[in-house]
Amino acid sequence: MDSIKPYVICHMLGSVDGRIKQDIWGFTDHHKYFEETAEKIPADAWLVGRVTMQEFSSKQQHSIAATANISYEDFVAEKVSETFAVVIDPSGKCTWDSNMVSTEQVIEVLTEKVSTGYLEHLRNKNVSYIFGGKEELDLQLVLQKLKGLFGIETLRIDGGGHVNGSFLKAGLIDEFSLVLAPVADGTIGSPTVFEAEEGYGDRKATQFKIKSVERIYDDFLWIRYQVIKDNVGR
Ligand SMILES: NC(=O)c1ccc[n+]([C@@H]2O[C@H](COP(=O)([O-])OP(=O)(O)OC[C@H]3O[C@@H](n4cnc5c(N)ncnc54)[C@H](OP(=O)(O)O)[C@@H]3O)[C@@H](O)[C@H]2O)c1
Repeated sequence: MDSIKPYVICHMLGSVDGRIKQDIWGFTDHHKYFEETAEKIPADAWLVGRVTMQEFSSKQQHSIAATANISYEDFVAEKVSETFAVVIDPSGKCTWDSNMVSTEQVIEVLTEKVSTGYLEHLRNKNVSYIFGGKEELDLQLVLQKLKGLFGIETLRIDGGGHVNGSFLKAGLIDEFSLVLAPVADGTIGSPTVFEAEEGYGDRKATQFKIKSVERIYDDFLWIRYQVIKDNVGR
């Protein structure tokens, strides 16, 4: 099964208590801790959740008409970049001024809950989109399409916690790369590295094996883990 999906590495910057919002951490250069390590993980695409992508997508108001006559089929725009920026956006809440984030070409992952007007907006901006399910996303199918339609062999999942948690729960993460910041956040209710499920059900935690550990930026640790596949948390 694995050969038909990309190899998936989840990469995150976390506090010692696993939190991921850096608002009160007090670092002046906080982007570099995530970005400089991410750049050392070769990947054909990075993928984020809708909340995280709204930090990069359009801040303008785009009028979305409800009348366009477009069928619910995947749309692959002409390839203009070797690398991609993928967003899990089941209800189509991200709007776009162009089809690029930095040097990466955008791919929207949708459900059929989105309006035809939203699909028209994406087509007008030449933004590729794929359907991952009617109402709910089948993340295995999403990964298969990313590989099959766009040739993505290695995918880096860059958060936030909800998107990481849903891929973890589905057993689709191969490696976890954690930049551990020397800070305790302590904010109750703030997203953590993996937000998979409320409460304790039948699911088992996912265990890792260390691949490498490096001390970086004086007091940070960069820990790379391999997921122990026969003990994936489901
Ligand atoms: N420290 C770090 O390394 C790091 C990295 C990235 C982000 N962040 C921070 O993390 C925060 C956001 O994290 P977050 O956990 O709140 O949000 P997120 O994971 O970025 O986005 C969550 C949203 O993505 C969609 N989604 C994710 N998985 C889905 C699934 N399986 N099925 C359907 N929809 C799915 C849903 O969108 P809808 O609500 O539209 O249904 C969901 O609400 C931000 O503050 C960001 O800055 C930190």
